[in-house]
Amino acid sequence: MANTIPDITLNDGNTIPQLGFGVFQIEPKETVEAVGRALELGYRHIDTAQMYGNEAEVGQAIRTSGLDRGEIFVTSKLNNGFHRPDDARRAFDSTLAALKMDYVDLFLIHWPLPTLYDGDFVSTWKTLEEFQRDGRAQSIGVSNFQVAHLERLAAEADLVPAVNQIEVHPYFGNEEVRAYGRTHNILTEAWSPIAQGKVLDDPTIVDIAQQLGRTPAQVTLRWHVQRGDIVFPKSVTPQRIEENLHIFDFTLDDATMERITGLDRGEAGRQGPNPNEFDYVPR
Ligand SMILES: NC(=O)c1ccc[n+]([C@@H]2O[C@H](COP(=O)([O-])OP(=O)(O)OC[C@H]3O[C@@H](n4cnc5c(N)ncnc54)[C@H](OP(=O)(O)O)[C@@H]3O)[C@@H](O)[C@H]2O)c1
Repeated sequence: MANTIPDITLNDGNTIPQLGFGVFQIEPKETVEAVGRALELGYRHIDTAQMYGNEAEVGQAIRTSGLDRGEIFVTSKLNNGFHRPDDARRAFDSTLAALKMDYVDLFLIHWPLPTLYDGDFVSTWKTLEEFQRDGRAQSIGVSNFQVAHLERLAAEADLVPAVNQIEVHPYFGNEEVRAYGRTHNILTEAWSPIAQGKVLDDPTIVDIAQQLGRTPAQVTLRWHVQRGDIVFPKSVTPQRIEENLHIFDFTLDDATMERITGLDRGEAGRQGPNPNEFDYVPR
């Protein structure tokens, strides 16, 4: 079986590679090398954010890769201090300036921040709609939105987010939010897909990996893609960057999928902040 990364069609007709490369917690000075390595190995989708402080280095790595801009799918996200429409407009300009690009493939509201800005993420979303209309964001979406937040957008805004990027891994299935996405044509992007390494020594995952002659990370990433979600594991380790790419040349049978899904610990399995409460604004 060839190891080809599938493209998935978003609700606006654009396509996104199902596997990408995440750059959260990659130091700016390490980013050019890590992203360069990923592109060399065959990744064509990079997930960054204003908050990660490495957009400029992502842009630099893409320029020096020799690949055409159109071959690479680039996502960035609005930082939490910029939800007011005028701030969002300025912040989006700064993303394009840092990347040295005239468009991003996907731009997201990073967190809903329901306890800040009078709970008004709707006007923030309507500002992202402007970016898509003027072509500088090919697609727009949200991140860390809960069902109530998505319902509010559905009631008050024009466009349905193309994706919702949320925490999902074997210990935190986040099924209610995923299910809303399935029924409303919003693709789920699973962040921290290997729970920052915490699921890799789970006995069930280790057992499956041994049976299949794969690594625990490959088995976990394969579980995500068979569920239809988009993933972008992060690594600065060359051998892991390569390993994480090789997940399209084997399959997990239904019983194996269920064993992994059965590891869900519900809310107790969440590793990151709860989006209903998260209110961090970088200064
Ligand atoms: N929207 C949001 O709020 C949000 C939040 C978190 C993350 N994200 C996105 O999701 C991406 C991925 O999530 P994440 O970075 O939190 O965590 P992750 O991808 O689940 O895990 C990354 C960690 O696992 C290690 N690792 C990677 N591949 C491995 C392998 N094959 N074997 C063993 N260890 C491995 C990495 O170590 P080394 O680097 O040392 O190799 C790193 O410590 C981020 O980079 C970011 O793009 C979004």
